[in-house]
Amino acid sequence: MATTSKVVLILGAGSRVGEHVARTFASQGYKVASTSRSAKETDDTSEAIHIAADLSDPQAVAGVFFKVKNSLGVPSVVVYNAAAATPKDAKNPASLSIAEFTKSLSVNTTSAYAAVQEAVQGFEQLPHTSSRTFIYTGNILNTTVMPALLDLGVGKAATAHIIQAAATAYSNRGFKFYYADERKSDGSPSYNAIDGEAHGQFYAELAEAGDVTPKSEKEAANESVDENEDDEEEEEEEEYEPPYTVEELAKLFLDFYKFLATLHYDPSDLKIPPPEGWAIESLPAAILKRKSTRVVELMRRLPYFREGKTSTHVHYKSKLVDYSDPAQHYYAGMRDDLFFDLNDKLESFDGETVDPAESIVFAWGYESGGHYFALDALHGEVTVDVVRMNLLGPEDVKEFFENLKKEYRDLKLVPCPGRETIEAEGVDEREGPIEQSEVMAQTQAWGTNLDWQFVRQIYREHGWVYAFRRVEAIRAIEKFMALKSEERGEWETAYL
Ligand SMILES: NC(=O)c1ccc[n+]([C@@H]2O[C@H](COP(=O)([O-])OP(=O)(O)OC[C@H]3O[C@@H](n4cnc5c(N)ncnc54)[C@H](OP(=O)(O)O)[C@@H]3O)[C@@H](O)[C@H]2O)c1
Repeated sequence: MATTSKVVLILGAGSRVGEHVARTFASQGYKVASTSRSAKETDDTSEAIHIAADLSDPQAVAGVFFKVKNSLGVPSVVVYNAAAATPKDAKNPASLSIAEFTKSLSVNTTSAYAAVQEAVQGFEQLPHTSSRTFIYTGNILNTTVMPALLDLGVGKAATAHIIQAAATAYSNRGFKFYYADERKSDGSPSYNAIDGEAHGQFYAELAEAGDVTPKSEKEAANESVDENEDDEEEEEEEEYEPPYTVEELAKLFLDFYKFLATLHYDPSDLKIPPPEGWAIESLPAAILKRKSTRVVELMRRLPYFREGKTSTHVHYKSKLVDYSDPAQHYYAGMRDDLFFDLNDKLESFDGETVDPAESIVFAWGYESGGHYFALDALHGEVTVDVVRMNLLGPEDVKEFFENLKKEYRDLKLVPCPGRETIEAEGVDEREGPIEQSEVMAQTQAWGTNLDWQFVRQIYREHGWVYAFRRVEAIRAIEKFMALKSEERGEWETAYL
């Protein structure tokens, strides 16, 4: 029977990461099952169990899931945290024996794969309101080679592939798969200085973030609720309660901005507000005085991207606004006016007139086709104004971000710092590899389907979307662009 209970299973839970993850999830009302070879099953309670299992035997995984299901319920979140490494001389990695290689591969990959299989079977039994999240603790070795850690690197790289495949295949069912890798702010690996508490917090955020339920499933669920309510008498009109609190809205933005920071936005440009929020003096006075308390509080709680050459566009001719940057205040005010002057009859999904005091423009569009994004904080909806073309929405903010993420994942939106983001939903996927010579042989102006298919190929060769090597990928694009011919031109450079 489907269960809504919150159960997390942590495979490989020790003092550095696993125990912190367990503690954070427990504090958020989850029942926690943790495994390790040294786990003491005698410490079990009705809220937390410990299972002794050796993950160098992939067959052990099914037994672990069986025990968790019977004692706590089907896991709605699965964290695979165990790892094995047999360090060797960096000058002779081939000294790793076959037995050592195979054992590490079992812990790092085969058992993780067995856990993915079990998790998917479990997620299928859970309702769409459950988190249904799988997180694999990785490190930089899926993209970087360190010969001394050959077995660990092979395992992380192989499992990153499994995670990416699962994330792609199951996203339309609302299951989420992540490869997590703590890095320092300069992008270098954390090595042994990893922060267990931060892992706990981030994993809990991933588990709670973004409902990726397909709309059709949600509508079906809503319809069945409506049917049950048909016979009920009309209730008295209650005071309107916004669907999202300011905190929830800020969390949705953070989730989306963190996603962008795994793609074309530079993670070091992401500005996360201090716990007390941005200081009011750093926000644009001209806008603050026209906004509701809710929107002012939201501006204080939102994350922003620092304006830079490396973090540029969120959509076609569209840039995110950083309200905490005084250099942008004058323009932010103008953009806010412009949006609401042009569309003074904006309506919410339920036909309520949108009050500009309750709204905030969080991305501004320029030139024809540019995209303005405005959040109606009262109704929790986003309206998109495509400059001089049409008005899209309103759409639930959570769905809006999830749909945008999907467009990025599928490369229906193709971004590149310093160049105009391309809307490529009409460009089919090309089967088989494309040779650069084929692209270069074209005579039409830049921007054919083949051009965009080739750009997609370059991005995917660089780990798009779950392990994207941004700097390398952009370098590859720019190198390719440098080969442009006079006749063909190049990918339109952006107005910055
Ligand atoms: N991002 C980075 O730069 C970075 C840096 C360091 C680590 N990491 C990753 O973080 C993860 C956790 O690292 P950690 O060891 O420090 O975490 P931890 O949560 O302190 O420990 C993981 C636990 O897994 C258990 N384990 C190991 N081998 C196992 C096996 N064969 N079967 C069952 N359980 C097993 C161990 O307990 P028992 O010995 O009792 O079995 C260990 O205590 C690893 O995946 C690692 O690769 C990432």
